[in-house]
Amino acid sequence: MLKNVSPTSTTAWKKLEAHFADLQPQLLRDLFKEDPERFNKFSLYFEDMLFDLSKNRITEKTLDLLTGLAEEMDLSGAIESMFQGETINATEKRAVLHTALRNFTDESIEVDGENILAEVRDVQKQMKAFCQKLHNGEWTGYTGKPINHIVNIGIGGSDLGPKMVVEALKYYQKPGIAVDFVSNVDGTDVAEVLKKLDPETTLFIIASKTFTTKETIANAHSARDWFMKHAGDKEQIKKHFIALSTNTTAVEEFGIAPENTFRFWDWVGGRFSLWSAIGLSIACAVGYDAFEELLKGAEAMDKHFRTAPIRENVPAVMGLLGVWYTNFFGAQTHAVLPYDQYLRLLPEYLQQGLMESNGKSADRNGNFVNYETQPVIWGAAGTNSQHSFFQLIHQGTVLIPCDFIAPAQSLNPLGNHHVMLLSNFFAQTEALMKGKTEEEAREELLKKGDKSSDEVETLVPHKVFEGNKPTTSIMFPKLTPYILGSLIAMYEHKIFVQGVLWNVYSFDQWGVELGKQLAGVIEDELQGKKEGSHDSSTNGLIAYYNNNRS
Ligand code: F6P
Repeated sequence: MLKNVSPTSTTAWKKLEAHFADLQPQLLRDLFKEDPERFNKFSLYFEDMLFDLSKNRITEKTLDLLTGLAEEMDLSGAIESMFQGETINATEKRAVLHTALRNFTDESIEVDGENILAEVRDVQKQMKAFCQKLHNGEWTGYTGKPINHIVNIGIGGSDLGPKMVVEALKYYQKPGIAVDFVSNVDGTDVAEVLKKLDPETTLFIIASKTFTTKETIANAHSARDWFMKHAGDKEQIKKHFIALSTNTTAVEEFGIAPENTFRFWDWVGGRFSLWSAIGLSIACAVGYDAFEELLKGAEAMDKHFRTAPIRENVPAVMGLLGVWYTNFFGAQTHAVLPYDQYLRLLPEYLQQGLMESNGKSADRNGNFVNYETQPVIWGAAGTNSQHSFFQLIHQGTVLIPCDFIAPAQSLNPLGNHHVMLLSNFFAQTEALMKGKTEEEAREELLKKGDKSSDEVETLVPHKVFEGNKPTTSIMFPKLTPYILGSLIAMYEHKIFVQGVLWNVYSFDQWGVELGKQLAGVIEDELQGKKEGSHDSSTNGLIAYYNNNRS
């Protein structure tokens, strides 16, 4: 079971506070000057992936103290509890076993006395058989034509993970199969996708763990209505609709045949579910073998996370660094910056992963925390992001730790593009670290010789870069399904580490309930089924809508 203490009550926390006061004024550029070995000392490797932590505001002492915090919070014990299937999601009384979905050993993992690995393998076989049929052209639609277009209808974890991975692995996509995603209850989302579909060759995957999520069910009904308009025969639904869910009863009620239902289980959290049947759209896009490679990459990261000492444990150190910036430097956001176009959806995916998991203010005792928890996660692909929000990261007033992520080799080697891309990656992390002092700015302007000394002095404050902005650089040889699996699993475990350190329950998401409840009430009112009264703003908005609705 997870240790249940406030991190602020630990000795390590007090030591970290004192250490922060010493380290805070120190400049990264000086730390690099003082120690030519800094890169080597602060680089971690996982297989051939590099995690360069040297441009973070840390010293060996910082890592020692953070490791001490992990020990006092019993991180190692917590990791073991998760892998062994203890009920660590206590508010929902569930185990947390997404790691079992990518466990290829013959270990036995029990939930309620059952070895769940056998069930996992059965569903994997079912997924593999389905993919084989699809890719061989044997899965045909109601007119006998092979299916060539897959539409995944889901939201949150039943959309963001598969969508991000399908985009990330686009290079490996099977020819002749298109994959689209519909998630938003805004009818425009489904309508725009339907416009490009041929009902004879389209298969809808309804992906919903609970099969009660209103957005998904509404989109599924619209897709089914559209399909019925063309096919006209209910019997044909089984050729064109399949479901991924834990709720097999609701799936059947919707009209999807049991043999077209791919199960998963309560111990798979929505935002950790891309490794389960929820990943079927990934397997459809890239083939089952590549999907399995993704799982194997994650499995390797799981082994590392479970066995490496904290100080060399990549997800553990990444999580600890997050705590260092959030709770000591007061960083309120964290940017994820993939320098790889294929990874452009990673920030969006991690937003759900990190913010839905650790965006909590009650600790595991039910007390309101007296420290910060999850910062806002945001980001976009480089170099586009350089031309939008980097100004603020360089010269704004808030500290934003950043993860830069890039492959050494491009999957699309085109002229000088990759050299240019990586030059930008390296230059940005160097600039953020070093900054530009007032003297350097002045000297540079004077050297140019095209301005008077008054003009130079006016410009100098605007040309100063404070520097000392922390970055972590993550590099790997090239983007493969295996590497992607390792990278995602690393971030998943970082979430877990931070939840342990912040003493919150990372695997529930009660915070999304209130809005859902009120939306149900208001929907009835907007449909004239009930009358209601709200605050003056909500009443005013409803009145505006009613006056302008047609
Ligand atoms: O937004 C809350 C949430 O429960 C997420 O955690 C989940 O990923 C999403 O809704 C979708 O849920 P489901 O897969 O049950 O439709």
